[in-house]
Amino acid sequence: MNQLSQLNLSGTPASLYRWASRIPSTTLKTHLDFLMTEFDPLFSARRMAAEVVEIIDETQDVKTYVLRPSVHWKGFVPGQYIAVEVDIKGVRVQRNYSISSAGSLFEREGLISITVKCVEGGTVSNYLADVLRLNKVLHISEARGTFVLAPDELDQKNSQKPETKAGATRAPLFVAAGSGITPIMAMIEALDASNALGNATLVYAVNAEQELIFAERLQVLQERNPGFELLPHYSKSKSGQLNNKRLLNYCPDVAERAIYTCGPAEFMGMVKGLATALGMPESAVRSESFGLPKAKNIADRLFKTRETLVSGDSGKASNANSARVTLVKAETTLVAKGDKTLLELAEQAGLKPKFGCRMGVCHECKCKMSSGRVINSLTGELVPAEQTHIQACISIPIDDVSIESW
Ligand code: FES
Repeated sequence: MNQLSQLNLSGTPASLYRWASRIPSTTLKTHLDFLMTEFDPLFSARRMAAEVVEIIDETQDVKTYVLRPSVHWKGFVPGQYIAVEVDIKGVRVQRNYSISSAGSLFEREGLISITVKCVEGGTVSNYLADVLRLNKVLHISEARGTFVLAPDELDQKNSQKPETKAGATRAPLFVAAGSGITPIMAMIEALDASNALGNATLVYAVNAEQELIFAERLQVLQERNPGFELLPHYSKSKSGQLNNKRLLNYCPDVAERAIYTCGPAEFMGMVKGLATALGMPESAVRSESFGLPKAKNIADRLFKTRETLVSGDSGKASNANSARVTLVKAETTLVAKGDKTLLELAEQAGLKPKFGCRMGVCHECKCKMSSGRVINSLTGELVPAEQTHIQACISIPIDDVSIESW
């Protein structure tokens, strides 16, 4: 284990940092922070990091990584996620993972965990499974996200009250699919810690029993909270995929519940569709989405828009399937195919462009486009020709594009 991270925080590095944080000079602080980071990344106040302290095999292709975040990491609300950043073959890549551990573990021991399923072609999930070992340090973000329990859910009195349609109190119904259980697990543990799990229901869909993540933890929670309904659904059994009819069978009073759902987009769409059909208010359904999904049928739209642009100007080097991207500063030209964003294309080519949220929020990836057209991956709309400053993480080249500065 990294020796410094074993030190009591009253030891030299922490005292030094506390002393440094009172220094008025920003430059000196920055230099000191750099030195501390060189000494131990877990002491940096500028770039959060976490040490891997345990790796747990959950199922055949799912692992939980128990992490000890930097001393400056601010903590989380159950249901939130962190961005994990790793360098793979010289390219920095980032993915969001929900925190799957109970808040009490962080309060007690300063630990959190993420639970990751290896997916085919999943660059980061496979890297974590194949390369990440104990004592390694990952760069992480502060906790993010708004998929959290409604404030009144943690009130233990609510778990005994019968819920009413009109009342503010709705018993929670969690509907998860596959690794969508991860943020929900943290929420359920939070309810348990507040003695408020007694009226909750979890419908958890996986292909087969051996794919149930956290089976033992859930079992223990059910034994401790007799009113907590744990309803696993096996999609590869006779009952088939979980659909709105089956969900209604599991929980006939869906319309009176506060719904929390996490899983693939179509799965959450099914749950929301049922809620809408039952006339539930939008606020009664909360769902997780790590960033905004690409617009529907974007590949089709790209092809058609490219086709129109190309047929209108025979001098173009692009065709309906591809476009060229010239990065002037890096003196590189890339070929854009499919629906890859400018950021993804640059990273694929081994470049290390600046980025933050990767979902069109923070503007860290803003760059100046001197010619060409891009489509906005969130809306599927063509970005106006007069707009020259674009966000690389949500811009898909539709035409030969030249990026002047990034
Ligand atoms: S990385 Fe945040 S807007 Fe692009």
